Amino acid sequence: MAEDVMPIRRIDHVRFFVGNARQSAYFYRNAFGFDVVAYAGLETGVRQEAGYVLKQGNITFVLASPLTADHPENHRLIQHGDGVQDIALEVEDVPAAYATAIERGATGVSPPTIREDRYGIYEYATIRAYGDTTHTFVNHDRYHGVFAPGYEPIDPERYGPRRSRPGGLLEIDHIVGNVEKGRMDAWVHFYQTVMGFSQMISFDDRDISTEYSALMSKVVAGGQGRIKFPINEPADGRRRSQIEEFLEFYGGPGVQHIALLTEDIIETVRNLRQNDVSFLRVPPTYYEALPDRVGPIEEDLHTLAELGILVDRDDEGYMLQIFTKPVEDRPTLFFEIIQRRGSKSFGKGNFKALFEAIEREQALRGTL
Ligand code: FE2
Repeated sequence: MAEDVMPIRRIDHVRFFVGNARQSAYFYRNAFGFDVVAYAGLETGVRQEAGYVLKQGNITFVLASPLTADHPENHRLIQHGDGVQDIALEVEDVPAAYATAIERGATGVSPPTIREDRYGIYEYATIRAYGDTTHTFVNHDRYHGVFAPGYEPIDPERYGPRRSRPGGLLEIDHIVGNVEKGRMDAWVHFYQTVMGFSQMISFDDRDISTEYSALMSKVVAGGQGRIKFPINEPADGRRRSQIEEFLEFYGGPGVQHIALLTEDIIETVRNLRQNDVSFLRVPPTYYEALPDRVGPIEEDLHTLAELGILVDRDDEGYMLQIFTKPVEDRPTLFFEIIQRRGSKSFGKGNFKALFEAIEREQALRGTL
């Protein structure tokens, strides 16, 4: 294996910039089963923004909202609506990671910075990725607070006992970016050269096309394969693809979906449906064709059909997945729930059925 030019431990957290973090935190807690563990805002001495830290398994989401008209990130809300601002990567050595990235062509946003409070030392530095999305390199080995300077454990009075069902979500499996037509290879190149990622697999429009929607996708992986970032670009179709719809409503490239890993997708999806999470539905004919396409599986086919869970198989095993509808009014960011039984792939065999389902939704929005 080649020398790791950019040793990354893991995805530390995903930061969302949203219009009303307090209400978004309620949604992610009660719909997806996250625990709200920390808060930053006026009460903790932070004047500029409110932040909520949500945890489930090894997944950390940060929801931030501006408190004043002069917050430097306010333009994001007009341009993009709610969305992913930053995918933070935990590294051993922040200055080294930043220096390597800049030397290899990244654009800096914040140089290495040390923030210190009574809980210790928190180090970070930020570079640009696709669109307005950024990557922050963080190290909190010497920080013993609940999250980062400015954050305190959430007031236990803020939320009552949980009435919603648990999500059973364990890890971020992959995070997908949509970029403009013709820009996919440039971003694959960015992750390869700047971040030292390697390319896993690619699909082209022969794999992923329906009558209307087509896309191209390549997957880059880093952090010894633990971090997977598929990158999509629109391909020519007869009508407007879902990627173009995203680019229009997000106002440029950005994170399209975050896939969250579970060890029991049936239990997870049953609970999330009870919690009012809306998922895409494929037609019943999908399940008639399933046994021939994927062969024997452990799960009961009728249960999968009832919950709308999709299955795909490759040489190494199979995987089960399902996609939510967009989680904001703009048809932009959505989530995937995924369970792996050997397969390391992304569900290529489901794309056609899935895109037809997405197109039915697009037709309802008048954006096909
Ligand atoms: Fe995915």
